Amino acid sequence: MDATTDRVPAFAEHASRLANTHLRDLLKDKARGDRLRKRVGPVLLDLSRQKLDLAALDAVGAYVQGTNWEAARDAMFAGAHINTSEDRAVLHTALRAGGSKLKSPAPAADLEEIESTLKRIEAIVGAVHAGKGPDVGLPATITDVVNVGIGGSDLGPRLAVDALAQFHVPKLRNHFLTNVDGHAADGLMKTLDPKTTIVLLVSKSFNTQETLLNGNVLRDWIATIYGGDIKKAAGHFISVSSNTKAAADWGIPAEKVLPMWDFVGGRYSLWSAVGLSIAFAVGMSHFRALLAGAAMIDDHFRSTPWQENLPVQLAIAEIWNRNVRGSTSRAVVPYVDPLIDLPSYLQQLEMESLGKHVTPAGEQVTQPTVPVVWGSIGTNAQHAYFQALHQGTDIVPLEFIGIVKPGHKLEENHRVLLSNLLAQAAALALGKTFDEAMAESKDGDRAIAAQRTFAGDRPSTVILLDALTPETLGALISLYEHKVFMLGHLWGINAFDQWGVELGKVIAQQIQPALKGKSEHAFDASTQALIEEIAARR
Ligand code: F6P
Repeated sequence: MDATTDRVPAFAEHASRLANTHLRDLLKDKARGDRLRKRVGPVLLDLSRQKLDLAALDAVGAYVQGTNWEAARDAMFAGAHINTSEDRAVLHTALRAGGSKLKSPAPAADLEEIESTLKRIEAIVGAVHAGKGPDVGLPATITDVVNVGIGGSDLGPRLAVDALAQFHVPKLRNHFLTNVDGHAADGLMKTLDPKTTIVLLVSKSFNTQETLLNGNVLRDWIATIYGGDIKKAAGHFISVSSNTKAAADWGIPAEKVLPMWDFVGGRYSLWSAVGLSIAFAVGMSHFRALLAGAAMIDDHFRSTPWQENLPVQLAIAEIWNRNVRGSTSRAVVPYVDPLIDLPSYLQQLEMESLGKHVTPAGEQVTQPTVPVVWGSIGTNAQHAYFQALHQGTDIVPLEFIGIVKPGHKLEENHRVLLSNLLAQAAALALGKTFDEAMAESKDGDRAIAAQRTFAGDRPSTVILLDALTPETLGALISLYEHKVFMLGHLWGINAFDQWGVELGKVIAQQIQPALKGKSEHAFDASTQALIEEIAARR
């Protein structure tokens, strides 16, 4: 296709100037650094190690401004059906509107239903925390809460529950059962007591095979304490779903089903009743604080010009790296152990949202959309794949995430951790020249000096949170959500559907009977051969 149909301009002049300008030199410009380092409340975003100078930043900013992004943003907040392929509003922001200082333009009826659901969550969680299980139709004593769900019904709650371990209420253990791999359910059942375990069956559709199968397995396991009565076992379950009928057919009555709405996508749903496991883990006031932290960034996103707007700035860095510089992946490396789940959470948020190659009008996009998102925690990552990030042939932009005040008193550990974060970002940007390597060499071996040279000039972003609290976690996630919105807008794709997950689900349904030896289906030769291999070796 003609390159002139590209949405994101090539910014050719800026790109070629910057291709010949080392980050080492860009970093000498203090005014540039000050503009690329922004704070909103407890969140500091430092883009100064991106390969942008102020002229390029202003050019990209002017382009973004010309795309009418503010009108698109306002349409989302007001409940326009911007998820066109499913004809749905996109109102995850309404779920936290209670914590906003701006008036929500979302439909009043939705806001009321959201608040009344929060009150229902509060009642359930409050009763369980007070040891009054029977009030809500659950066992009297509860020691363990198992969240059964997958994708958005797992990743968001799991991220928050793990990240907020410091805030957990005592005496209640939290577990996540996701994969249909029986090792996971089997392992849980070996360690938990069915008498004191409750299950949150979380599925927006109530139609996800992995979740329903794991729900059945846990229900049968709990039924063993009731002489095999699965109706009584279902008393240990609460569901979160928009499909109340299917939940009732499964055995969970409507009063124990918390709603999900079609205006909330799975990967944007942790703020809804899908976050029930978070509320169980940290209590309702902390859950509300998580919502308030997200609302703080919502307000910032709604009211701040692009020059100061953190989600917009993150989106600018992404299109610069992806569309102008041609990066194919981005590594996310939290130097925060409790954020261990952040890379997987962002994989769904970003790749399920933005992994599209067709516009809502059905036309092929002409430019790359989402890069592969991957990563793991630092400093561990330094001793695994950072060699390639420093000296490999691909340049991978990184995102470092750190917290200033840790949730422990091990001062030296934290100093070492943070110094490593800062050192990695500096080393990637500055590098070490051949001459510097030679100057360090005792015997002047040029081959060794070449191997000890770092080209540098490798871009990274640093996000620093004052501390890891419900508020800052909410703010961090909201920041990423709005970056995703901006990228969907800039790339001209629908960030709120996920048709790409469907085909594999259909084929899996066709293969299942074949694995029992009962299929007439004509599979491709490769699939057929593997089915036969499995049958022969079982
Ligand atoms: O298969 C993808 C997906 O639909 C995700 O978008 C969603 O978060 C996940 O499956 C789980 O869906 P549900 O909550 O309906 O079980």
